[in-house]
Amino acid sequence: MSSTEATKNNQADSPRIVRISDFKNQVGKEVRLQGWLHNKRSSGKLQFLIVRDGSGFAQAVVAKAAVPEAAWTVAEAMGQESSLELTGRVKEDKRAPGGFEVDVTGLRAVQIAHDYPITPKEHGTAFLMENRHLWLRSPRQHAVIRIRHAVVKGVRDYLDDQGFTLVDTPIFTPAACEGTTTLFAVPYFDEGTAYLTQSGQLYNEANAAAHGKVYCFGPTFRAEKSKTRRHLTEFWMVEPEMAFAHLEDAVKVAEGLIVSVVERVLETRGEELKVLERDAAKLGHVKSPFPWLHYDDAIKLIQSKGSQTQWGSDFGGTDETVIGEAYDRPVVVHRFPAAIKAFYMEPDPERAELTLSADILAPEGYGEIVGGGERMSSAEKLQQRIQEHNLPEEAFRWYLDLRKYGSVPHAGFGMGIERLVTWICGLEHLRETIAFPRMLYRIYP
Ligand code: 4AD
Ligand code: MG
Repeated sequence: MSSTEATKNNQADSPRIVRISDFKNQVGKEVRLQGWLHNKRSSGKLQFLIVRDGSGFAQAVVAKAAVPEAAWTVAEAMGQESSLELTGRVKEDKRAPGGFEVDVTGLRAVQIAHDYPITPKEHGTAFLMENRHLWLRSPRQHAVIRIRHAVVKGVRDYLDDQGFTLVDTPIFTPAACEGTTTLFAVPYFDEGTAYLTQSGQLYNEANAAAHGKVYCFGPTFRAEKSKTRRHLTEFWMVEPEMAFAHLEDAVKVAEGLIVSVVERVLETRGEELKVLERDAAKLGHVKSPFPWLHYDDAIKLIQSKGSQTQWGSDFGGTDETVIGEAYDRPVVVHRFPAAIKAFYMEPDPERAELTLSADILAPEGYGEIVGGGERMSSAEKLQQRIQEHNLPEEAFRWYLDLRKYGSVPHAGFGMGIERLVTWICGLEHLRETIAFPRMLYRIYP
């Protein structure tokens, strides 16, 4: 217990501060609850307060006969999102939101609020985004962020348990990793221009040669001019990288990771999935093995469903949806043409125009969640690629060194957390999966 908590809890005769998530262990006991008024209705001599405290929602019943007059008056005066502290006895009540109810014995307002902009009625998305700092308190947004937390923890636990070492990679970088068209430039002292990282992969490759199996997990930036429901300009990506590994090894880790994270969410975030009205049965299909689909066959598949996309092009959002919808679990699309992939991809030894690359597409039309593959291990070929892609050779000197001193086959992938959470939560748009999304037309709040 912290010292402030101790002082608070030592107030004479005052019951312990308890969080709503712990009510199940407090039935029949007198507790103190600190939170905000989510909603209120009254019927004569009773006022029903729905209180949220960050850990959950609970109904607090204020009976005029059971509380001091001041408490009754305060309950009447409090508008939505007033902050408050109450004492009362915890009861189990299956009908109450959250399953518990508190019979209030004392109540005080910390701050009385009025005219909270987000009322229980429907609001448009533009309005909600403008009020994102408040929207985060709503039950659905609360549920999404809690699922995101479970996903992040699931990712870390899985990789840590598999023997990966977390090595953080820089955010300021001297050059592009995923193409030069989506770079955010930042003035960097006398060094000229730095760029916000598009991926930690290149540094991860150095880290993998030091630690064998590594991952980085942080924010990445893409100056994507695309205004779609799948693109943020700032998103979080987990990127595992392994030495002495091939494409199949990387995909195996990605598959194990996705299966384990989905299982974790089903086990620990059932309540939140219910709030989101997510069909959890669909997530139950997410089991190994994932199907593999060669790029050639993926093109045939989408063309058979009416796509105009030709061999040699990247898939559009609709193409990804069509491919993903053909399976009940994520599908591994592999061996994309070199011409549409990043400079570092290892060519397919059997067909030089293809790469040892793979994207994993989520089912239900959610599109790409993972991109990765095997990295070029020959210094000569890599240098040639850097030139072909018009990349500044000087900035990649260190990267070429990795191919000169103990080069090994190595592979890895990146998984976008917001894309994964969007699919797991069954959302329309990935903007709800991060507290403060950064998009082409939004940087406030
Ligand atoms: O396919 P991408 O561009 O791959 C890389 O960056 C590799 N260097 C990763 C690696 O091999 N270490 O991005 C990987 C994933 C995508 O599959 C997607 O989930 C996510 O990052 N992503 C985005 N998420 C949100 N908004 C965007 N603009 C995204 N761009 C990519
Ligand atoms: Mg990709």
